[in-house]
Amino acid sequence: MTVAPFSIAHLTDPHLPLLAEETGLFAAVPDKRLSGIVSWRMKRRHIHLPRILSLLTDDIHAHLPQHIVLTGDLLNVSLPQEYLRAADWLGQLGTPADVSLTPGNHDAYRPGAFEAGANPWMAYMQGDGPARDAGFPYCRIRGGIALIGVSTAMPTPVFSSAGELGARQLSALAEILAAHSKAGRMRILMLHHPPGGAGASRRKGLRDRAALQQVLAQHGAELVLHGHTHTGVLDQIPGPRGPIPVLAPSSASALDPHREHARWHLLEISSPSSGQWQTQVTVRGYNPVSGQFETQGQFSLLA
Ligand SMILES: [Fe+2]
Ligand SMILES: [Fe+2]
Repeated sequence: MTVAPFSIAHLTDPHLPLLAEETGLFAAVPDKRLSGIVSWRMKRRHIHLPRILSLLTDDIHAHLPQHIVLTGDLLNVSLPQEYLRAADWLGQLGTPADVSLTPGNHDAYRPGAFEAGANPWMAYMQGDGPARDAGFPYCRIRGGIALIGVSTAMPTPVFSSAGELGARQLSALAEILAAHSKAGRMRILMLHHPPGGAGASRRKGLRDRAALQQVLAQHGAELVLHGHTHTGVLDQIPGPRGPIPVLAPSSASALDPHREHARWHLLEISSPSSGQWQTQVTVRGYNPVSGQFETQGQFSLLA
């Protein structure tokens, strides 16, 4: 199938700020949130800066992408009011039709928090089907491309940031990948946790990574976009017709000399006559010297 070129902006892990009154230690219940709030006070509030995120989203909008993919960790400790502030921020990022979201571990920090709080985000995580089912996986067609979102977000014990898809999502994903392969569409899988070797520890990684890799080895996908690592990732995992490219930018709000400053990726997708999908990737990153975002790399992926 040949489609007109289509452009997608991919950003991840904005970690919108907690308010000062939310970070008083006595404001927290003595559970996992306490460790998250201590981490925010001690470290993360100095790294995830609203002014960097604002420059990044301005830079995305200046490039007029046709779609935006956001792969999770909007929040820090999943307080009810964090979901509402994030919904406002999402509204500024784009309409639900133009932004596809998959949640991260910080968006489901405690049992029940995501289910109770994330309703205002649902329109960003819905498929195109008649029922507009808000469950995962969801699939939307944009520019002739199948954008498939799965959730790896789940509550975990203190000091763990692991994720899991579960058997139900994996089997539904296999069906969706097969159907869109038959239809000749490019398939982009969106998820928070890396599906490959990056961040693969038991404590931080995707627990059923091997099962996901099996699904991808059998049914394929043309591109996988993820977050969670807070550093740029260019990886690949085996597919039925060759390697599947796997891509992540650093955190969208980071000013972090020890890891990476904020970056986002502009993906320009075209289907050349060879039958393979070509994705031209432009890495846009924050330069603390100029105080601006600039092009820091360009490369091409084929699948
Ligand atoms: Fe994150
Ligand atoms: Fe994460």
